[in-house]
Amino acid sequence: MAEPAETTEPNAFEALGGEAAVRALVDAFYDLMDLEPRFAHLRSLHPTDLDGSRDKLFWFLCGWLGGPDHYIERFGHPRLRARHLPFPIGIRERDEWLACMGEAMVHERVNEPLRQRLAEAFAGTADWMRNRAGA
Ligand code: HEM
Repeated sequence: MAEPAETTEPNAFEALGGEAAVRALVDAFYDLMDLEPRFAHLRSLHPTDLDGSRDKLFWFLCGWLGGPDHYIERFGHPRLRARHLPFPIGIRERDEWLACMGEAMVHERVNEPLRQRLAEAFAGTADWMRNRAGA
């Protein structure tokens, strides 16, 4: 499977609205994960304090969407699949992550064609992250 940076068009970052919009999307994503009971299982895999997760996903997504490489500048190659190996990710976790991000995009009023395109790219990356058979 291709590395995440190759899965989206280079201009998705601008189409979304730049850094402020990426930050708002990440905040909506983690707010939903934190507050919605249906994401409690996904939430339980994450640290008690989500501030570091928010920053890292924001930095990563800027580059993944075709914007500035904040994550790579700080941490080098994302090695995202390897970094997720400590967390059991099966179909259930993948689908919860994608549902949470889908709701965050609706919350942030990402326009329909872009939302569709990003949902497909997220789905590819999230599926590639699976490290446990079955649900
Ligand atoms: C498929 C289900 C997924 C689960 C269950 C999951 C879970 C987690 C957890 C528990 C962490 C650790 C949080 C922390 O270090 O603060 C993490 C980190 C991270 N996740 Fe995910 N994740 C998933 C998918 C994704 C996807 C699809 C992306 C990107 C599109 C992503 C990007 C990141 C990034 C950038 C980090 C920080 C890595 C680091 O530098 O330590 N994750 N994820």
